[in-house]
Amino acid sequence: MLMSPGEGLQKIPVRNLQVGMYVIMPVSWKSHPFLIGRFRISSPAQIQKIRDAGLEEVMVDPARSSVPCLASAVPPAGSRRPETQPEKKDAGAVVATLKDAVKEAAEDRTLPREEKAKVVYSRAVEMIDSVLEQPDRQNIKTSKEAIAAVVDMILADRDTSHYLARITSHDFYTYTHSVNVGFLAVCLAKTILQDSDNHNMHELGAGFFLHDLGKVRIGPEIINKPGRLSGEEMAEVRKHPAMGFKILNECRQLTEECRTIVLQHHERNDGSGYPHQLRGQEIHIYGRICSIADVYDALTSDRPYRKRMQPFEALRLMKDDMMHHFQKDLFEKFVLMLS
Ligand SMILES: [Fe+2]
Ligand SMILES: [Fe+2]
Repeated sequence: MLMSPGEGLQKIPVRNLQVGMYVIMPVSWKSHPFLIGRFRISSPAQIQKIRDAGLEEVMVDPARSSVPCLASAVPPAGSRRPETQPEKKDAGAVVATLKDAVKEAAEDRTLPREEKAKVVYSRAVEMIDSVLEQPDRQNIKTSKEAIAAVVDMILADRDTSHYLARITSHDFYTYTHSVNVGFLAVCLAKTILQDSDNHNMHELGAGFFLHDLGKVRIGPEIINKPGRLSGEEMAEVRKHPAMGFKILNECRQLTEECRTIVLQHHERNDGSGYPHQLRGQEIHIYGRICSIADVYDALTSDRPYRKRMQPFEALRLMKDDMMHHFQKDLFEKFVLMLS
């Protein structure tokens, strides 16, 4: 196990699971039906899936759950989270353990390629989840080592982008989205920048995986709101590129141009983006690459207010209605990459 109950986690019977609890599945992904081993339960169907897997007890993390986690009784509806929170686990140790797990899987020569990508993906999601929980200098530095191994895996395998669609999760949590965009943007960067030695792909990968880092400074009630955001809430969300850039500056991690990914991934080719309404070539090529992967993943993920689009539907919408947002030839390479 990566963590024990002594670190603030609780073991509870599956019959007491509720929507809102943050569950941690047994460590081997082969022993449960979920792509990602740690997540907040978002529907009764997920609880049923856990039951169907034959599990009788699972670990829950009360600190990351939005409802009380009681082992012996189901709490009354509407009851509040307990005043006393369990001691917070050491996110640094968790990130370090998951970094090793990501590297080990990425460098494993015995696993079939698609299976290997699946294990790397699920471990990377768990690692980014922990980094976003405590995005300090050490955790960002640690995660960069794992991201470098993931980037090397993508660079060494010319077919990674083809089975990406099958291995990525479609839940729109910041941590799953971060890893989806990380994978997609590294694949696109590889296609576009492959003839040049002037790019540090490891740093670039870190920029893509951490592009939404600034969301950790936005209230969870806005980030996790199960509905469309009001104008005021949207204004708050629009602060996340600058906040992420600030965090990375303070941590002195990533090169200047890779920090720019975080700042510019919502800029749009026609000047309609934010925070600085940059246009065309004013947006760094890394930011332009990230924005395509970012929009595509948002469209192909389930949101509380709409079902996800199929890949071809998302690409068609981007082409027909959003083309002015992107650099045309980059978008065309992205379509080719996924076809
Ligand atoms: Fe973003
Ligand atoms: Fe994003």
